[in-house]
Amino acid sequence: MPSTTANIAIAATTLLSALLYSPVSQRLLTLGLTRGEIKNIHGVDGLRTIPGTNMCEDLHLEESTQQLFAACQHDKDERAKWFPPTGNFFDHTATGGGAIVRIDPVSMTAKTLTLKGFNLPMVTHGIDILNDPKDETLLWIFVVSHLPNPDRWDVKPRRTDLPPERAHIEIFKHRLGTDEAQHVRSVQHPGIAMPNDIVAISPSAFYVTNDHVHHEGLIRGWEDAGTQSISPIPNTVLVEADLKTKEPASGVKVNTALNAVHNNNGLGRGSPHHPEEIVVLDATGGILTRTTRDLATNKLTIIERIQIDSTLDNPYYYHDPYATSTNNASGYLLPGLPVAHKMMADLPYNDRAIPSLVWHVRSKDSKPVDVKGKGKGNVWEKNLIFQDDGKGLRSASGAVLIGIDPKKNGGKKQGWLFVTGFGSFAMGVVKVDL
Ligand SMILES: *[C@@H]1O[C@H](CO)[C@@H](O)[C@H](O)[C@H]1NC(C)=O
Repeated sequence: MPSTTANIAIAATTLLSALLYSPVSQRLLTLGLTRGEIKNIHGVDGLRTIPGTNMCEDLHLEESTQQLFAACQHDKDERAKWFPPTGNFFDHTATGGGAIVRIDPVSMTAKTLTLKGFNLPMVTHGIDILNDPKDETLLWIFVVSHLPNPDRWDVKPRRTDLPPERAHIEIFKHRLGTDEAQHVRSVQHPGIAMPNDIVAISPSAFYVTNDHVHHEGLIRGWEDAGTQSISPIPNTVLVEADLKTKEPASGVKVNTALNAVHNNNGLGRGSPHHPEEIVVLDATGGILTRTTRDLATNKLTIIERIQIDSTLDNPYYYHDPYATSTNNASGYLLPGLPVAHKMMADLPYNDRAIPSLVWHVRSKDSKPVDVKGKGKGNVWEKNLIFQDDGKGLRSASGAVLIGIDPKKNGGKKQGWLFVTGFGSFAMGVVKVDL
């Protein structure tokens, strides 16, 4: 997510960068500086919330069981004191209580999984889930965890020249249908410096985005406020981890797969008809970047960049099982913030609202999408399908859409949209027209 040390700095640098380099109005709109009143868009039946889903940053659908998996946090006050993804390093001891939560989208109830063989703190962020290629009852769960760097904090005097965090990727195995997950190993490597989100390609290989180049200070603010053409560019890496060792730094290989996306943040898949597609989001730039994976080298090549009018977070591809030639709702669900420039001032205060939104980006007139070329022929429809003033849903960083069969719904083409945020107190659900 976007972050900086000072709102004033972000506003000033934004103005400067906007005036000097990029179309002014687009930059100001994306960061929310010129947006008017935030009106609630709560689908056809209003907003419901699911208890037991505190501050779940990311959300995924397990297709075979139709259950949702989220990474959440037990303690809202600790998140306000330590959350490296937003540049929040106030108290490195406030790291407790990360959770993996399974949500049943039909009963709209949540169950926190018991984590076996795991006693580390966990500060959750992006996650991914992957069905085991051989055992269909086994699910692999990958979780970004923002742990403090002991070499900086646990010494006297403190080493402020060293990075504030030393993040882990925690890998778990979960037997579908049970209420527990077994820890497999922690993964730590200097090339996973500011991890944000994950896409796994096998139980032992996964892509991770690093969302910034600099952890702290004005230069980090500049990364947020700037754009593709003027700010430092972080990378997406491919991580290969030996699953036989438990030692966090052992048996880990990291290679750069892409370094061409500013504020390289949420990571996701594309259509199941295009399994090589990996989607990378420029969060503060509001750009959906479609890439294609080279199956031999695992490098990612950009197919297309699509500008959206807000900051963005973890993407989800909705494959419409009820698509027709005239209404095909397949496309990208993109959660984000309508007024991101104010977020850092509001996040540490649990009583302040953080407005949220979700875009549904689909091919205009249900035309087939060009997946191979530069996307020149693609025309996208960008629909704002959810918005909240931040009192109902405090921030949005993960969204999943589950379609409803029109045959069982009086002919109406609709879906359930689940939305969650890194600063939200409960996941929100609305029924939307598609
Ligand atoms: C809907 O669109 C997606 C993306 O272009 C495509 O993969 C899918 O085959 C389409 N479905 C139908 C039924 O046309």
